Amino acid sequence: MVGRLLISFLLAASVIAAGPSPGQIKNLVTFGDSYTDVDRHADGGIMWPVFAAEEGNFTLFPFAISGATCSSVFASQLPTYFDKTANGSLKLDPKETIYTLWIGTNDVGVHGLLTGQTVGATVVNTTACAVNWLQVLYDSGARNFIFQNMVPLETAPLYARDSYPNRYWTAQRNTTEWNVFIKELTTSGNAIAELMLRSLAPTLHGAHIGLFDSHALFADMFARPQLYFNGTAPLNVTGAVHACVFELNESTTDPGVCTDAVGTDQDSFLWYDELHPSVQAERVVAKAISDAVHRKTEKWITWFS
Ligand SMILES: *[C@@H]1O[C@H](CO)[C@@H](O)[C@H](O)[C@H]1NC(C)=O
Ligand SMILES: *[C@@H]1O[C@H](CO)[C@@H](O)[C@H](O)[C@H]1NC(C)=O
Ligand SMILES: *[C@@H]1O[C@H](CO)[C@@H](O)[C@H](O)[C@H]1NC(C)=O
Ligand SMILES: *[C@@H]1O[C@H](CO)[C@@H](O)[C@H](O)[C@H]1NC(C)=O
Ligand SMILES: *[C@@H]1O[C@H](CO)[C@@H](O)[C@H](O)[C@H]1NC(C)=O
Ligand SMILES: *[C@@H]1O[C@H](CO)[C@@H](O)[C@H](O)[C@H]1NC(C)=O
Ligand SMILES: *[C@@H]1O[C@H](CO)[C@@H](O)[C@H](O)[C@H]1NC(C)=O
Repeated sequence: MVGRLLISFLLAASVIAAGPSPGQIKNLVTFGDSYTDVDRHADGGIMWPVFAAEEGNFTLFPFAISGATCSSVFASQLPTYFDKTANGSLKLDPKETIYTLWIGTNDVGVHGLLTGQTVGATVVNTTACAVNWLQVLYDSGARNFIFQNMVPLETAPLYARDSYPNRYWTAQRNTTEWNVFIKELTTSGNAIAELMLRSLAPTLHGAHIGLFDSHALFADMFARPQLYFNGTAPLNVTGAVHACVFELNESTTDPGVCTDAVGTDQDSFLWYDELHPSVQAERVVAKAISDAVHRKTEKWITWFS
């Protein structure tokens, strides 16, 4: 009886202990690629970290850089962050600060695993790398983390079965094979990440670790756009705000022949271009992240600790 009470107490305590408290987090430190880079505006407008900072009243410290793979997070983003903390230009209270990483799209994508351009690497390497980001920051004193998994890239125009030559790829390809393989890479990478994070979490004493399910959120936006998109054009999850068709083998630095949605029509789209989410999709991500951090809902996040 006492044993059972103790077990229920411990279970209750661990449930309570998972995740930061509402209002605890004041600073948002973001790492990643073009999906998170606030300067390149890969969505054609404002990026999710800026919306999330507004929504959640966080001070934003952005480190993500367009084109990044996980290895470039280690080669440039983390060193910049560590330089700034070492020279005193960045002082963040670990308790009030949450660190996010959204990475993988370039590792698995068109210039990565999909086309065999990262010699010797597999989805296991890139996933282990992403999970190691968390360990390295923990070792430096960070305590609150959100790991954003990969979206269902097979739904992006670049990787769709009926894809066309575009700014990311104009060479001959079998779009069916790309669609099948990119789905394998994103779903298996996400599954490996979850297992690795679940086993890492109990070893990082005093940390709060959340897995943000971007994959499920984007799959839901794709399946049920009426819940998320509010533009004045017909809802469109297969096309893009800025869709540009190229000739086969044409230089990817050409402009292509573009169809552009303008004004309020843009908020009807899931994708901004053939690879990047639209501004409205970014608003959805931002609200979901802010709500997760402030513990308003657990809909898209699982706190492992
Ligand atoms: C927003 O955050 C700042 C700095 O942490 C704080 O001073 C202010 O009271 C917060 N505002 C709201 C509306 O919570
Ligand atoms: C601290 O390091 C950062 C990143 O290297 C650099 O941009 C900044 O100028 C440095 N600040 C000081 C006060 O040395
Ligand atoms: C990938 O991981 C394997 C197994 O751990 C290792 O042998 C290999 O060197 C790694 N390759 C790269 C490019 O990181
Ligand atoms: C593309 O790949 C699919 C799946 O392997 C195959 O069924 C199809 O015949 C291929 N198409 C062309 C044009 O080679
Ligand atoms: C979706 O957008 C694309 C442009 O990327 C356009 O060609 C297509 O007709 C649109 N579909 C719908 C249903 O409006
Ligand atoms: C595109 O390039 C490939 C490889 O160089 C070549 O085999 C193919 O004939 C080219 N197709 C066109 C339409 O230029
Ligand atoms: C769609 O909703 C967002 C809030 O999620 C709002 O900021 C935006 O202005 C809305 N777009 C339109 C066209 O009404």
